[in-house]
Formats: sequence, structure tokens, C-alpha cells
Amino acid sequence: MSQPIRVAVTGAAGNIAYAALFRLASGEIFGPDQPVILSMLEIPPAMGALEGVMMELEDCAFPTLAGMAAYDDAEKAFDGVNWALLIGSRPRGPGMERSDLLLANGPIFVGQGKALNRAADDVRIEVVGNPCNTNCLIASSNSDVPAERFSAMMHLDQNRAQSMLAGKAGVPVADVSCVTIWGNHSANQAPDYGNAKIGGKPAPQVISDTAWFTDSFMPDIQKRGAKVIEARGASSAASAANACLDDVRAFSRPTPEGNWFSSAVVSHGAYGVDEGLIFGMPLRSTGNKDWSVVEGLSMEAPVKAQFDKVLEELRHERDVVKELLKK
Ligand code: NAI
Repeated sequence: MSQPIRVAVTGAAGNIAYAALFRLASGEIFGPDQPVILSMLEIPPAMGALEGVMMELEDCAFPTLAGMAAYDDAEKAFDGVNWALLIGSRPRGPGMERSDLLLANGPIFVGQGKALNRAADDVRIEVVGNPCNTNCLIASSNSDVPAERFSAMMHLDQNRAQSMLAGKAGVPVADVSCVTIWGNHSANQAPDYGNAKIGGKPAPQVISDTAWFTDSFMPDIQKRGAKVIEARGASSAASAANACLDDVRAFSRPTPEGNWFSSAVVSHGAYGVDEGLIFGMPLRSTGNKDWSVVEGLSMEAPVKAQFDKVLEELRHERDVVKELLKK
């Protein structure tokens, strides 16, 4: 058996973590011969609930679970970890604006960014806790870990788009590829239908109802999270955990030829995005936790208009939290 992979999960007693931890421990994500050690972070009032989660993990008797520990101190939780899934954050309270939420959660990510200096050299960090792009920017800017090792989750939006395109075209989801979600995990994201492929052909060549892309596809993806909350009375949890694990896999395996995935990473100026913003982009990976942006895509006019809007939104979010940014 190889050296165990150490995975930190924050918000470990929360709903998304409950749908992720068992899959991480089971061998499904890193393989049946790869031991995993879970390092779980929570706030003190949730440590009792986390103890219950640990009992359940134990009761699964997963052969790949080589160890686990619960912490209420990020420095300890991130010590030597190879992956850090930053899921925990404060939910939006009644009457809270997005900017209030940014400021309420910002300090969490300042502290966690610093604590990530304790992680292993090969650490990759995935921020899920909302507003995830700007939380990721805060964590990265307060950390000595290279900015390229941080990403914020767009994979749930990508998966939603993939399912919706497959449903409209009447094909299996596996036939849909090259789905890009530009920008922010917010209602202003820009889901790109023009560059998506169905059975290897551009989606607009397969779906002839072109109005559908702008009248249904784009707004439905943007509002999908709110629809789930309305129906379930709680925000997406299993699908969010699934997307987080999809991202772990996307950065751990070579991206299949002719395809890409969406994740928000630090901008080095591609597509005219300000250097340093954490922006959803089409990416490819060699499978070594690395990425490169798929360059040279052109956008349909409605997608470009939304791209410009979401770029403005992320600039605004950066300004709101500027006091918390170190570099
Ligand atoms: P939840 O409320 O069930 O769990 C959050 C957990 O985080 C709680 O157990 C809480 O005690 C913990 N927590 C709070 N502050 C913490 C800190 N400083 N350190 C460690 N743990 C802390 O929420 P759920 O459903 O698990 O969602 C978690 C986050 O994921 C939310 O911010 C949610 O908005 C976000 N989310 C992001 C999505 C995306 O696509 N990026 C999709 C769905 C949810």
C-alpha cells in the first residue's frame, strides 16, 4: 500500500461534508489501494456532531480509511495535508446582503489561508464555502502556498449545465463535453453554450431552438441553486459534495483529449481578466494537481455580455474585501 493521502475537510459536521466524507474514505475517489487520512475541522459548538460523524465513519469499516482526527484549530487540521477542501463557512442570515456575507466569512479565510502554510508541499485547495471565489482570493492572498494551488468550485454549475444540455438534446450526459462556466459561482455566472459540445459537435448545431440557450439554459443554470433551496428547504448538499469530488478527480487525472472542465483559478490575464482574480475558466490538467487555461475560445454575444457582467461583479467583491487581502 502507498503512503496515505491526507485530506482536510472544513465544515466537517455540515451537510456537504456529510455527503463527501464517506466517499473520500471509501476508496471511490483515490482508488481501492490508496489509504486516506481525514483531518476534519469544525467550530467548537459543532464538535459533538462531528464526533457522531466519526462514529459513523468508523462503523463503515472502510479498508482505505487509515486514520481520522477532529480539530477546532486550523493550524492543526491542515498540518501535512495533501488536499484541503474548504467547505465550512457561515450561511447567509436573514436580511444579509452578499457583501455582508463576504465580510462575515472573510476573517475565516484569512486564518485558514495562513494555516495552510502548514500543509504538504503538494497541497491543492478547493474552496466550496460561499461566496467561494472571493473566499478563495482571501485565503490565497493570506497564504504562502502558491496561488495556482487554490481553486473555487464551479463544477456544480458545470454539472448542472451538462445535464441540462443532455436533457434538451435527448442524449446521455456522457455525450456532452467542453462545458465552461465563466466567472463567479453566483447568479451572474456566464454558462457558455456556444463552446459546449454534444456528440462532438457545437451545442448550437445540435439544439436548433437557439432562443432556448438565452431564455432557459443560461438563467436556469444561474438560478438552479435557489430553485433547489426552494424545493428542498436547504441548499444543494449531495450535488455540491459530488462536484467537489469531481474537482478533486479533475486535478488528479489527465483531462481526456478534446475535453476540459471548469474551475475558478487565479487569473494570469487570459481572456482579459484582471491578474489575481479567482475566475471560472476552461481548464485542462496533466493529473498532477496542475492546470492550464484552454485559450482562444470565442464567445457568443450573450455569453460575452454575461462574462463582462460577472467580471465586474468579481472586481466589486475584491474591492469589498480589500482590507483582508495581503498581496
Ligand atoms: P452547513 O451549514 O450544513 O455546514 C457548514 C459547516 O461549516 C457547519 O457545520 C459549521 O459549523 C461549519 N463552520 C462554520 N464556520 C467554520 C469555520 N470557521 N471552520 C470550520 N467549520 C466552520 O452548510 P453546507 O450545506 O455544508 O454548505 C457549506 C458551504 O458550501 C456554504 O457556504 C454553502 O453556501 C456552500 N455551497 C457552495 C456551493 C458551490 O457550488 N460552490 C454549492 C452549495 C453550497
